Amino acid sequence: MRVGIVGLGYVGLPLAVAFCEEGHEAVGVDTDARVVEALTHGRSHVEDVPADSLRAVSDRFQVSTRYADLAKVDAVVVAVPTPLTRNREPDLGPLAAAGTALAGVLQQGQLVVLESTTFPGTTRERFVPLLEESGLAAGKDFFAAFSPERTDPGRTDFTLRNTPKIVGGLNEESLRRAVELYELVCDEVLPVSTPEAAELSKLLENVFRSVNIALVNELAILCDRMGIDVWEVVEAAATKPYGFMSFKPGPGMGGHCLPVDPFYLAWRAREFDTQTEFIELAGEVNQRMPYFCVEKIARALNDHAKPVRGSRVAIVGVSYKPGVGDLRESPALKIIRLLREQGAEVSYHDDYVPELPEHRLRSEWPEDADCTVIVTAHPDLDVERIVRESSLVVDFRGVTRGIEAPNLMRL
Ligand SMILES: NC(=O)c1ccc[n+]([C@@H]2O[C@H](COP(=O)([O-])OP(=O)(O)OC[C@H]3O[C@@H](n4cnc5c(N)ncnc54)[C@H](O)[C@@H]3O)[C@@H](O)[C@H]2O)c1
Repeated sequence: MRVGIVGLGYVGLPLAVAFCEEGHEAVGVDTDARVVEALTHGRSHVEDVPADSLRAVSDRFQVSTRYADLAKVDAVVVAVPTPLTRNREPDLGPLAAAGTALAGVLQQGQLVVLESTTFPGTTRERFVPLLEESGLAAGKDFFAAFSPERTDPGRTDFTLRNTPKIVGGLNEESLRRAVELYELVCDEVLPVSTPEAAELSKLLENVFRSVNIALVNELAILCDRMGIDVWEVVEAAATKPYGFMSFKPGPGMGGHCLPVDPFYLAWRAREFDTQTEFIELAGEVNQRMPYFCVEKIARALNDHAKPVRGSRVAIVGVSYKPGVGDLRESPALKIIRLLREQGAEVSYHDDYVPELPEHRLRSEWPEDADCTVIVTAHPDLDVERIVRESSLVVDFRGVTRGIEAPNLMRL
């Protein structure tokens, strides 16, 4: 099988490598020349794909900036970004660009699968019409499907191979071909009746997390007022063997998915005269968390008779989650901006992010800070050392639980 992958990021690159590891050939296309250049030289920009894995499949994996190289593949998987505009509305720009470029090279009999997370109706109403500009008819001359990506970067227990893969085809033949494609790299492929069902299933998964995180974040703010330890409450509730699922509070949601995807659904719902109030409220609560965190840092400094202005604040962990260097929508960046606006001198430490050029900062171990703030706790973080060496610590991840110290404050 020859598989084309459009968009070689967190989703596309591991998928391309997975096909190659099973002995198939992959042609990866990315419009970012730097990405293609790096991959050509065996350098990976995605943590889940180490350089060794790239090297091992280099004879079967071709990377390019040209869509023309997709003309000879059997199937094309599209995994381009689906971000928001400045007004927090879906930005289908990259997806439309990919569709238009693909139409120029689409061949009779090819299968095209969209994996980018998006609102229900995108594949059928937005993407397929662009492909049909080729003059080929969908479902007859070429085949189309949607299959949501469920990757969790940095995770090793659930991978592409052992996570069930949902597929919705434009028609029966499209579905059959898409199932066949994913069976090459996934143990379990779950067909659903339409691309819309597949599109919405992905959004449900993300909205479910967003709503539950917002709920526990709201509880954290209440606990802060009431002087109750929210971590203890969540841990206690989680001992119920049924009917409860544990979510942890934190400084806000980051990454490409959770802060973005619910807005795709809310926007689409408005076209159907429906307000998705839960979803929007969850987004609001989660977006408020970095502001709450800065308030809490200011309070901690105040307790030590220090104003925010002129204080040295060290942020520990700036990526949006542990174990990866992904900065997208990271609440740490917002906390840094807000602290600087209030006149704090901010530094940061993150083994996964050596520098933050837009903030003109380089990672350094927190020394002599007036306040050290744990925003993201990477697996190897020496929490005890931080508490021991810092004059004041604020922990937004609950990783200092079990440590008793007078200079310690937790969410
Ligand atoms: N990262 C995740 O954990 C994750 C999980 C599930 C779903 N998704 C979804 O998958 C999609 C891709 O996400 P990602 O994290 O891989 O993004 P990414 O930004 O890491 O990678 C996307 C790549 O697409 C390239 N690109 C942009 N426009 C292009 C075009 N017109 N043609 C070819 N290449 C183009 C970019 O240069 C980039 O390298 C998004 O819709 C996202 O919501 C991501």
